Amino acid sequence: MVYNDRLIRALRKQEVDRLPVWYMRQAGRYDPDYRKIKEKYSLLEICRQPELAAEITMMPVRKLGVDAAILYSDIMNPVASLGVEFDIVKNIGPVIEQPIRTLADIERLKPIDVHKDLSHILETIAILDKELDVPLITFAGAPFTIASYLIEGRPSKSYIHTKAMMYGEPEAWFKLMDKLGDMVIAYLRTHVENGGKAFQLFDSWVGALAPSDFQRYVLPTITRIFAELRDLDVPKIYFPGVSSGELLPTLTDITAEAVGLDWRVSITEGRRRTGGKFAMQGNLDPYILTAPMEVIKQRAKEIIDDGISAPGFVFNLGHGLFPEASLDKLRELTEFVHEYSAEAILHQPTSRA
Ligand code: CP3
Repeated sequence: MVYNDRLIRALRKQEVDRLPVWYMRQAGRYDPDYRKIKEKYSLLEICRQPELAAEITMMPVRKLGVDAAILYSDIMNPVASLGVEFDIVKNIGPVIEQPIRTLADIERLKPIDVHKDLSHILETIAILDKELDVPLITFAGAPFTIASYLIEGRPSKSYIHTKAMMYGEPEAWFKLMDKLGDMVIAYLRTHVENGGKAFQLFDSWVGALAPSDFQRYVLPTITRIFAELRDLDVPKIYFPGVSSGELLPTLTDITAEAVGLDWRVSITEGRRRTGGKFAMQGNLDPYILTAPMEVIKQRAKEIIDDGISAPGFVFNLGHGLFPEASLDKLRELTEFVHEYSAEAILHQPTSRA
């Protein structure tokens, strides 16, 4: 078994013979086999069965030929260990019966105990570490994004309660950021100890903030998370989510190897805004996958040409896959990225990616 380490190499800005590719939300409802499993079990029930969760994690690797696996789990899983009850409701997302709204609610949150409460996740990671011939990416939700679910109680468009706490009760807000920061640090550390080969911090909704508010209310915790995990010898990815282009210039001091971009900012522009410090990951608009294959390939080609113009690029989508995506198109796209990027890298004057 030849281990495919292109993802790790690209995240470290080392040379690769072709681009690595994986897709956010690559395990999911676009796959009929996954839908069949979901008829029997909920997401949370699957996560409690490590053999099954590992199997689902491996399905897109086999079916699509991607260069990385991403752990089948959800960003909400670790909050169970803090004492928060939640459910993942079909077509809605995370729902919390008793949202967190006051300083007293925040003070009641327990410190995470991964080994006691989340051993099933560590077991899944350990199984995958034995089975996979591509790197396993593990992940956590970033504090703002997790806080938005805890405070709103469900997905939100305005983040009204979240922002009310952030602007109106800074003491409560910063205590929550501290506690969620501690949670993320402890959780991701155990992932790497059990076989995770890279991790991504998903800050899916933080693009809702102005850069100055992001810097004041959120970035210190993001900076601390990466600083405290710096000793772990795995590449670390920060994904500041959708509509986060204006936040990019504020990220230059975080000690991550890579930053994920949504589709609104080109790869070269993403590099420019972050001072060339990070490997870039992204950023095909997932909804381009609704177009005919030649349109998809043309857009992918433009992203690849842009991506390989400097070292450190991983092909991905600009956000997660949606349930109506087509397995066949994804397979063809993956093959296209591999073949086209291999040619392009070979014929590059300075031959590097
Ligand atoms: O990427 C993968 O294949 C790994 C698995 C994964 C899931 N959630 C499984 C899941 C990952 C990486 C996540 C992260 C996640 N969860 C994020 C960050 C990524 C992003 O999209 O911005 C967020 C915001 C969540 C919260 C969440 N969980 C939402 C908004 C939803 C969608 C609700 C719906 O039904 O459309 C979920 C549920 C969820 N998590 C699904 C999957 C495969 C879909 C429902 C299911 O199959 O049960």
